[in-house]
Amino acid sequence: MWLLLLVAGAILPGAKISGPTEPKAVSILSSDLFQPRTRGPVYFRHSTHEAAGVSCTACHHDYVSGRNRWRPGLPVEKCQTCHREEPQAGKLDLKNAFHRQCKDCHLKSRQRGRMAGPVKCQECHGMS
Ligand code: HEC
Ligand code: HEC
Ligand code: HEC
Ligand code: HEC
Repeated sequence: MWLLLLVAGAILPGAKISGPTEPKAVSILSSDLFQPRTRGPVYFRHSTHEAAGVSCTACHHDYVSGRNRWRPGLPVEKCQTCHREEPQAGKLDLKNAFHRQCKDCHLKSRQRGRMAGPVKCQECHGMS
């Protein structure tokens, strides 16, 4: 029954998003979709990004007809609920979804001479 609900939730258009509404202090990103894993887990901190002025909607989205309907205070699903190991219609695969979001912003900030996060593999994938 739970499996059916999960499957239905992932497929039905406009299905209600569920999940926590408050961010954790530290998220250890280490998806079970990567089997076997080849890299260490990635530590992500909301606080440093908030302090750097990155808006919540730079990372969180719930696209309805191409518009992002997600707002702070609404529940947040894991990225892997929508971005799977292999790319799905119109959606990046999980690894590229993370790399595109995380690395691209860090690279762009760096290129503009602004404060930026890591871009080297081990700086994100090393245990810290
Ligand atoms: C730089 C990217 C980024 C920004 C900015 C960001 N988040 Fe997140 N957030 C994440 C990631 C990554 C996760 C973990 C997703 C996963 O586990 O798949 C997450 C998870 C969450 C969760 C689920 C609980 C948890 O921590 O795992 C909530 C709620 C959340 N964020 C709310 C917010 C709110 C509110 C803001 C703005 C104040 C915000 N986020 C800003 C990337 C971001
Ligand atoms: C509720 C489903 C859902 C969740 C949860 C989700 N995504 Fe997406 N994401 C999508 C869809 C659908 C698109 C394609 C939107 C389009 O371009 O039409 C997308 C697009 C993207 C893109 C391409 C650029 C952009 O923003 O449009 C990136 C990068 C991305 N997602 C990363 C992430 C990351 C990282 C997380 C977790 C913090 C996440 N996504 C959570 C559904 C989701
Ligand atoms: C829209 C821009 C943006 C996005 C998206 C983004 N970051 Fe960052 N990140 C920053 C900036 C700016 C800093 C520098 C903050 C500082 O040095 O105080 C940073 C710093 C960091 C740091 C070093 C400081 C710390 O918190 O340990 C890590 C690690 C990091 N980011 C990981 C990630 C991961 C993982 C993701 C994707 C889930 C991500 N970032 C997405 C802008 C971004
Ligand atoms: C800005 C942070 C960041 C940087 C820099 C980065 N990654 Fe990642 N990478 C991630 C995140 C976040 C994930 C998804 C984490 C998870 O759920 O396992 C990921 C996932 C992966 C995965 C799939 C998981 C696994 O263990 O097989 C591989 C492979 C990977 N990265 C390789 C690399 C390589 C190679 C580089 C350098 C060229 C690199 N990454 C640089 C953040 C980063």
